[in-house]
Parts: sequence; C-alpha cells; structure tokens
Amino acid sequence: MTGFVFTGDALTCDGVNLSEVVESEGTPLYVYSAALIAERYRALDAAVGDYPHRIHYALKANSALGIVRLISQIGAAVDANSWGEIAVACRASVPPEDIVFTGVGKTDAELTQAVALGIQAINAESIGELIRINQIAISQDKRARVAIRINPDIDAKSHPGISTGSRAHKFGVPLHDAGPLCREVVGWNGVQLVGVHAHVGSQITTIEPVIKVANTISGFAQALIADGLSLEHIDLGGGLGISYDGNPTLPVKEYARALLDAVAPTGLTLILEPGRWVLGPAGVLLANVVDVKAQTSGRYFVVLDAGMTELIRPALYGAVHRVEPCIQRMGPEVICDIVGPICETTDVIRLGHTMVLPEVGDVLAICDVGAYGAAMASNYNRRALPAEVLITERHSQVIRRRQNIDELLACEQ
Ligand code: LLP
Repeated sequence: MTGFVFTGDALTCDGVNLSEVVESEGTPLYVYSAALIAERYRALDAAVGDYPHRIHYALKANSALGIVRLISQIGAAVDANSWGEIAVACRASVPPEDIVFTGVGKTDAELTQAVALGIQAINAESIGELIRINQIAISQDKRARVAIRINPDIDAKSHPGISTGSRAHKFGVPLHDAGPLCREVVGWNGVQLVGVHAHVGSQITTIEPVIKVANTISGFAQALIADGLSLEHIDLGGGLGISYDGNPTLPVKEYARALLDAVAPTGLTLILEPGRWVLGPAGVLLANVVDVKAQTSGRYFVVLDAGMTELIRPALYGAVHRVEPCIQRMGPEVICDIVGPICETTDVIRLGHTMVLPEVGDVLAICDVGAYGAAMASNYNRRALPAEVLITERHSQVIRRRQNIDELLACEQ
C-alpha cells in the first residue's frame, strides 16, 4: 500500500514511520511519497491510453527540485508559469522541448529567455503578448512555437478563487477573437502556431465543465484545421480535482474518456497540465502541537507550530484538509479548532475538527498538501520555510532543508 497509512497506531509513509522522520528532521515538515507520485502519474497516463498525448506536470503545484527531478524521471514533461519555474526545470534536466510556458503576465525578459531556450510552446494569453513574442523571436532570428490560450467563458464550478475560464477572468483570448487571431498569426515571421490551449480552473470535481471545454476547444481546432492551418496539439490544461474529505470525486478514467471523446476527431496530440491530481495526495505537512487551550464554549484550540505560512489554503480558500495524529491516541473525542502560531485570526488549519484531544508535543499530519502546500509557503512573521522530505523505497531524503536566519536575511543589508 503506497502513501500514508496507519500501521497499528502509527502513521507511515510507504512503510516509513513518520514519527521517526520527525525525530530526525523536526517540524514543521513536508513529507512526500515518491511511490504515490509515480503511481498517480502513471494512472493518469494509462487513463489517456494509446492516444498521442504528453503530460506536462504543472510546476506551480510543487517545484521543489527533488520533486521536479522525480517527476521528470518518471516521464513527465512540465508546465511552467514563470522564468523561475523554467529555470528550476532546466536545473532538473528537463529538456526545452518538454516545457510549456503559461501565465497571464509574461515579461519581455521572461519571453526573451523562453524564446532563446526554444521551448515546446509558449501559451500566449493575448494579442499584445503575441506581438511581443513575435518581435523578440525575430530579433533572435528565431520562430517561437506558440499556442493560443482561449478563454471559452465556461464556469469550472470550482472555488471562485481558482476558476479561470469565464469571460470576467483575466486569462486568455475570448473565443470569438481567437479564430481571427490564429488566422492572422500564421502569417507572422517570428511565431509558429502549434496549438490551442485552455485551462478553466483547478479542483474541478464534475464532468460537465470538462466536457464543455474539451468540446469547445476541439471544435475550435477543427475549424482552424478545415481552414488549412496546421496544428500539432490541443492543450487542455490541468484542473482535475482530488478528494479532500475522503469521499469519491471525479474518477480519472471518466475525465480522460471525456477529453479523448472530444479531442480524438482532431487527431492532434493531447497535452495535459495536471498539478494537484498528481501531487496533492502524495504529501502531508507534519506539525507539532505547541499548546492546547480550552475555550469557554467547550471546544479546544490546538495550536500548532505550522500555520498559514506553511499552508495557506485554509486561510485563503477556506480549504478543509483531513488531519490525522501521527500516533493515534485513545480517549473521548472533543471538538478542536486547529490553528497556527501567526498573529492573524485567519491563521487556521482546520476548524471544528472532532478528534481525541492531543497533548503538547504530539505531532499531527495535515493531509493532501503535496500540491499548493510548500509551494505557497511564505516567510511572514519571519518564519523559516519548512523542510521537505521525499520518501523513496523506505529511504527518507531531505530534498529541502529548513531555512536558517542567515538565509532569511541573505538579501538584506
Ligand atoms: N495549467 C494552468 C495554466 C494553471 O493555471 C494551473 C493551475 C494548472 C495547469 C494546474 O492545475 P491543477 O491540475 O493543479 O488543478 N493555489 C490553488 C490552486 C491554483 C491553481 C492555479 N493554476 C489551490 O491551492 O487550490
């Protein structure tokens, strides 16, 4: 059994007792299962089957160098959202042809470097960006491979903060402008239109928006092909959700089937940019209980040494993550508000959680944080970024050590 399971009363990751990892590395600590990352990547890959496709893991979910190296060794390509992420991919030996570059505000400096590198595709978000790419590529005597990101005006039916495909959102080119734009761009000297792209949101848990987007973008591509344009791929972004509460969610096979049904008539290579689905369940955040306080209401505050600086999802989106003790306790259950140490009331990890009351010194595991956990951590309150450990075949390796105060101050004088 891969991933995080109880063996007796102890929470383990791929057979390694998490309490032992905490003993050597301390808390707050992110721990990832290499086996589960590989298993989930392969499950998605297998769900798409023999149809020509390429999985570009979305680096924004987690771009720790050790994770990027692993995901690349497993066979994934990557989707980057900044020059920083491209640079990390290069350090992890990801070849340029395995990199797509998305993002709503790419600077000239970023585009200049991406064009020079000769990546698989720049997913262009506007006519203005295309003009800049064209000029930059001409000045380098190159032709940049581009895909047009389309805003199909489709509601992802996800959290409003992570939905990106409606016309009110800042992302992409409106569908009705995209046709004329694509037909114009093929005459330009600095760009080669190789694909069409859409990403309408993250943590999508229903099939309807998936079908709508896939059909819309596929229909759009077919119209371009009928006009004589030669495309290579359709990139349908990421977005497949995971179950944070343990209840079933959109199955990967159903998701892949819907995409293939729509895209197969084009014969174009299908590109996907999953982040959360591959990494999310493969990581936990381990935190130490530093205080337990009774509330007048009868509930308890359980104060951890990790909060919104290590995991901002509960504070930012009201996200609910499962919390498990590293060593199970026996006793009556009480209602706990699990909070962090930061000077903000929004600094919560999990409110109203029914559990056996922990004691100071216990370690809790906050689950399903492999994606958008460590990647969104900050130094607020001058807190050091947490350490990260990757478990591979029962071997635990620190892939990022905890920051120290000198590193926190390294850019200051
Ligand atoms: N491609 C593009 C262009 C994206 O913007 C994203 C995510 C992905 C792919 C990957 O989406 P995924 O498969 O992971 O759903 N911080 C938020 C999530 C923000 C997602 C942003 N874009 C959270 O913690 O829920």
